[in-house]
Amino acid sequence: MADDADASASHAKPCYAELVAGRTYLWCACGRSRAQPFCDGSHRGTTFRPLPYTAKADEEVLFCACKETRTPPFCDGAHNNLFATYKQDDPDSPANRAIPSISAGRDGKARLDGGCTVCSIDDASLETRGVIRHRRIIGAEDGALHQSLFYLECSRGSSPAASFDDRHVVLFATGGQGRIVIGERAFPIGANTGMHVRPGEGFRLESNGNEPLKVFAAACPRADAISWHDMPASRFDDRFPQRTVTLDPAARQRMGDRFFQMLVDKTIGSNVVAQFIGDIPQSKATPHRHLYEESLIVLSGEGWMWTESRKAPVRAGDVIFLPRKQVHSLECTAPAGMLVVGVIYPGDNPSINY
Ligand code: FES
Repeated sequence: MADDADASASHAKPCYAELVAGRTYLWCACGRSRAQPFCDGSHRGTTFRPLPYTAKADEEVLFCACKETRTPPFCDGAHNNLFATYKQDDPDSPANRAIPSISAGRDGKARLDGGCTVCSIDDASLETRGVIRHRRIIGAEDGALHQSLFYLECSRGSSPAASFDDRHVVLFATGGQGRIVIGERAFPIGANTGMHVRPGEGFRLESNGNEPLKVFAAACPRADAISWHDMPASRFDDRFPQRTVTLDPAARQRMGDRFFQMLVDKTIGSNVVAQFIGDIPQSKATPHRHLYEESLIVLSGEGWMWTESRKAPVRAGDVIFLPRKQVHSLECTAPAGMLVVGVIYPGDNPSINY
């Protein structure tokens, strides 16, 4: 493993490329090419050969530049583990000190560059439906193209039936206890449970604790509103029997000096959207971006969300929305670290950044 000084090496992140449908690209496998990520013939005399890739459509991709990927020619996030620490940035550098702090507007949202948003949930903004209080947190008004995020708070009892029609719904409980009922199957849930409701299915929440059951629901693709129904939908896709995931220290994956655990992902049949919980030490990540759209719920800790020319404070309970390709950096200022739960869509690997 290299030391931290090496972490600034230019090969420590993937190469973004826009590919043309039907065209074949030769990915450099040896690392010698000066035309990275493409082959320039420098492998001659070695046992390496370039890897051809033919674009199936006009597509945006991230080619691996570190040559450590297990999914060549594309990045799989392995570059994050080439160094002892995740790449970091100095929040007190002269450039960063010049970046102003933005306050939330009347809607509780602080708007940073490119549609990056930090949102605090205001109790007074919740609508009531039976034992449920709810509201949309992230949607088209924030520039979200692919996902929307809703907050649902369920008092003791059973909620009306809800659905997001033909979308994937990825949920996370931040407090309370009870059950989620999908079709006619019931699953026990409590704080820190991830849940997956498949396209065409509906769900109900049942709260049986003294505290309200607090749940965030991400609809993918984006939905403007929850569909409420008098009758619960009976559909349950039993090809995918596992619908809840809880925290498991043995399932944690390392990413530099950070850790994350996949919750809802392809291991339970969610192939196009993924949910994870991440553990961030006191630090400021180097500014980076993703090809997926991301929503983050801050579960504990505090810090700052940074974009190119703005920053906003974040604390436990806040929600962060990150558009595709928007440069950003999340800083944790709490000595005990920060816990976040995120949903990425479209995507399946939250460690792929560039
Ligand atoms: S650049 Fe090689 S795995 Fe990401």
